[in-house]
Amino acid sequence: MKTITVNVEHKTESSYDILIGVNILEQLNSLLDLSQYSQAAIITDTNIAKFHLQKLQKAIKIPTRSIILSPGESAKTIQSTEIIWKELADAKFDRKSVVINLGGGVIGDMGGFAASTYMRGIDFINIPTTILAQVDESVGGKTGIDFAGIKNLIGTFEQPSAVVIDTEIVKTLPDREFISGFAEIIKHGLIVSRDYYDLVTSKHPREFSEGELIEIIAGSCEIKRKIVEEDTKEKGHRKVLNFGHTIGHAIEALLLKTETPILHGEAISIGMVAEAKISQYKKYISEADVIAIEESLVNAGLPTAIESIDINGIKEKIKSDKKNVDGKTKWTLLDEVGIAVYDEEVSDALVTQALEFISNE
Ligand SMILES: NC(=O)c1ccc[n+]([C@@H]2O[C@H](COP(=O)([O-])OP(=O)(O)OC[C@H]3O[C@@H](n4cnc5c(N)ncnc54)[C@H](O)[C@@H]3O)[C@@H](O)[C@H]2O)c1
Ligand SMILES: [Zn+2]
Repeated sequence: MKTITVNVEHKTESSYDILIGVNILEQLNSLLDLSQYSQAAIITDTNIAKFHLQKLQKAIKIPTRSIILSPGESAKTIQSTEIIWKELADAKFDRKSVVINLGGGVIGDMGGFAASTYMRGIDFINIPTTILAQVDESVGGKTGIDFAGIKNLIGTFEQPSAVVIDTEIVKTLPDREFISGFAEIIKHGLIVSRDYYDLVTSKHPREFSEGELIEIIAGSCEIKRKIVEEDTKEKGHRKVLNFGHTIGHAIEALLLKTETPILHGEAISIGMVAEAKISQYKKYISEADVIAIEESLVNAGLPTAIESIDINGIKEKIKSDKKNVDGKTKWTLLDEVGIAVYDEEVSDALVTQALEFISNE
């Protein structure tokens, strides 16, 4: 098992641990001191409950109730949050109780939000069950729900008390979800470390052994830990994590209500190709670098282009990105493979060229 200690302000404590291992869910009670809590609420969704809830319930030795919600982004709402708050209130959860989020990013974000607002904030523990949640959502302390049609509009910055990553859990993930999570892993390599990028693109995501997967997940958590520790509230350096996300988010948002929505990691994969291309136009990386990046994403089973691209629609979405400052989009680009730069300005013409590049027509 691996332990990564994250040093950030967390109520009276100053750090929390991310525990990473195989079959460590069963050992939860001995890994974490749950006896300090009066009772626990497991928040999960129906898909995950089917495979992993019983195991977790068995591992917890304090009074526990389970709150099982519908799966998917469409459930990341104030209504679901209200269900959680109501259950906690009805069961008389006090300040000494704990919320355990057993799920992907949706459950992690929403359960964390519900816990961080209930009684002005009770402890929560994350047990991420998707690759995306293990390497991205569960590290960094952002919680939230979608509201008024806008993703993550309402939320808090609140750190979990602990994160428990069991690599056995992701075995039940559908292939598409598993591979989609790898887009963020590849991104971590591209923005911070060429060596890590080479490692994580050396095989198809499903071909890594259990030991290699632990190394990779720990590697990504470590990269994200370092970045968020330096910049907990996203004022500066944390922006490197946005690589691929300006165009990626726009594509994701545009396709959301269509018949062909794509997963977050898939959109980020396409976004990374477009933003690598912009990096090339700005003479930071070479054309050969862009080709190699594209190839590694294809080899991982990720998309790198889209059909019938609506260039103006994507540009409109980019303009309404909530990360814009004074109406201006600031871009994260690659200075080299393994080094990102942020707060870059990009002309409209280059954005158009990059969008044409990722168009399949
Ligand atoms: N807070 C952050 O910093 C942060 C970062 C990245 C993403 N996010 C958020 O994360 C969310 C996306 O997370 P996600 O990709 O994990 O999606 P998700 O939580 O919707 O999970 C994806 C699907 O897989 C199912 N599933 C989850 N674990 C499973 C398992 N082990 N076996 C079988 N099925 C399983 C779920 O029921 C769901 O249908 C978005 O809402 C996004 O905004 C937050
Ligand atoms: Zn992302």
